[in-house]
Amino acid sequence: MLSVPLIFDCDTGIDDSLALVYLLAHPGADVRAVLSTGGNVPTDVVCGNNLAWLQLCGRDDIEVCLGADGPLESPLMTTEDTHGPLGIGYAQLPTPISTKSSRDAADAWIEITAEKPGEIVGLVTGPLTNLALAIRRDPLLPSRLRRLIIMGGVFHHGGNTTPTSEWNIAVDPEAAKEVFAAFGVDGAPRPIVCPLDLTETIRMTPDHVGRLAAQAESSPVEQPGPDDEPGTRSTTSNVIIRHLVDAVRFYFEFHESQSEGYIAHMHDPFAAAVAIDPSIAVTRSACVDVETVGSLTRGTTVADEREFWGRPVNAEIATSTDPELFFDDLIERVAAFARAHTTAR
Ligand code: RIB
Ligand code: CA
Repeated sequence: MLSVPLIFDCDTGIDDSLALVYLLAHPGADVRAVLSTGGNVPTDVVCGNNLAWLQLCGRDDIEVCLGADGPLESPLMTTEDTHGPLGIGYAQLPTPISTKSSRDAADAWIEITAEKPGEIVGLVTGPLTNLALAIRRDPLLPSRLRRLIIMGGVFHHGGNTTPTSEWNIAVDPEAAKEVFAAFGVDGAPRPIVCPLDLTETIRMTPDHVGRLAAQAESSPVEQPGPDDEPGTRSTTSNVIIRHLVDAVRFYFEFHESQSEGYIAHMHDPFAAAVAIDPSIAVTRSACVDVETVGSLTRGTTVADEREFWGRPVNAEIATSTDPELFFDDLIERVAAFARAHTTAR
């Protein structure tokens, strides 16, 4: 399988964490940089999480950049109730020895795409703050990207941050508006947008976690459950699996507290899979824009599917996939990676 050189811009969080491990595990992904954007937790905490996961996975050779302190115009909002006080659930990762890059996230977007015009795939699973800042600094950046995948937005489905908005867009609506305006025109690719409409069908279950541990030959094989004591820590032997189980358990407990069931929506790992192989999702074309001034609707993504606006199509919205095929792939890849990259405790 040919690997695609990839920039991963994230607000590491629990699902961002699994997306990162999946990218490291997948032969089709060649992660060139991990860029830290404030969102689930503050930017510096995101950066520390990225450094720590890369070190745990033996990939501290990969550049980690710090992004802006906050959104373009509004104060940063974070969601520790969803992802835990440090953004990685109950996981307590070893303190990283490696340090962040000397260049910031926006400069990394600009310089990495300038070195390899037309080759880099961009994957954003957090607010679009740093991509927007990069485009402000270098308006030619969008045309240099081979592909852009955005986990964000919601169209014909309830929001998770306001009634009509999704977190990554709601944190920085101005950035999202500027990014959608910059792509799908002037030789820049149309971003593939993975909205809540689809990513809330990517429901990780305790059975998936059990299969992951078993295929990683980690023992004991643990399946977190709703009757467990909240915060129960994993004791499974494989260190990557152990920290992933601790992270995902927090997410199971959060989703259950939201009456979603004892499951976890794996928004970001799915977007990562689309970044590697867009053919796993069916998409529909539309002109997408972002509401920034509505008192009730700020942060809402709007898709003009019937061309009321008379504006050109600028996005491909992912509308359907096979969630179980995705989980089969994720479990197979991450289990094999965990098995190969750590020795039993
Ligand atoms: O709305 C879900 C998205 O917001 C995911 O990327 C999650 O990690 C948060 O960033
Ligand atoms: Ca995220």
